[in-house]
Amino acid sequence: MVLDPFAGVGGTLLAAEMCDRRAVGIELDRRWVKIYEEVRKRFGVLDGALVPCGDGARPIEARMECGDCLRALPRIASRSIDLVIADPPYGVGHRQVFRDETNFAMISKDPRDLGNLPDLGAYLERMQAVGREVRRILKDERYFVVLVGDRFMNGEYVPLGTKVAEALREVGFAWKGLKIWWNKSTLRRLRPYAVKMSFAPNITHQNVVILKKTKG
Ligand SMILES: C[S@@+](CC[C@H](N)C(=O)[O-])C[C@H]1O[C@@H](n2cnc3c(N)ncnc32)[C@H](O)[C@@H]1O
Repeated sequence: MVLDPFAGVGGTLLAAEMCDRRAVGIELDRRWVKIYEEVRKRFGVLDGALVPCGDGARPIEARMECGDCLRALPRIASRSIDLVIADPPYGVGHRQVFRDETNFAMISKDPRDLGNLPDLGAYLERMQAVGREVRRILKDERYFVVLVGDRFMNGEYVPLGTKVAEALREVGFAWKGLKIWWNKSTLRRLRPYAVKMSFAPNITHQNVVILKKTKG
């Protein structure tokens, strides 16, 4: 059983279905839940691929609940989940930064949206609160995988993947690995940042932070 507490339009759920795993998602924004429900209606799984319904495909079973994951996670039984994959907002202040630059601006005005928290400290605290719940619902020694991009904020590079990993280590996870994901489909257009004054490379990757629930 795979759980995604920041499920968006359902990438994790669909991938789990394509691998014949059961899955469940939580997503705050009703717009993305609706899109996922539309996909569920129109597509099914056949031989590990998503295909239009009616071609011998089996239905997509994974359900997505609309709500704040910090309210929904406590209702999930302890030690009932095999893997948690989370793709939370990448830090705070998305509304300004991502508005014009991306094709994947999943931003909202909801104060419960982690991307709308006042600063990075509040964001990391909220991620730890999510981490505590994730630790409780995971079976022993299972994995919590967090996709998170680094950021450029206030004139400096912020290694958000590392910061999230360190914050989650404090609430009972061991950091087992890091994969760098160059995802062409969500790539932001390259921009000339601060030409002539200084060099600020574009951030073109996301981190896949791999954590394991510690014993005890
Ligand atoms: C980077 S996107 C996830 C994209 C997702 N992987 C997909 O396949 O579409 C982050 C998501 O977290 C959601 N989110 C932010 N705060 C949340 C919260 N407190 N509870 C649940 N979802 C939240 C946002 O609405 C957004 O859709």
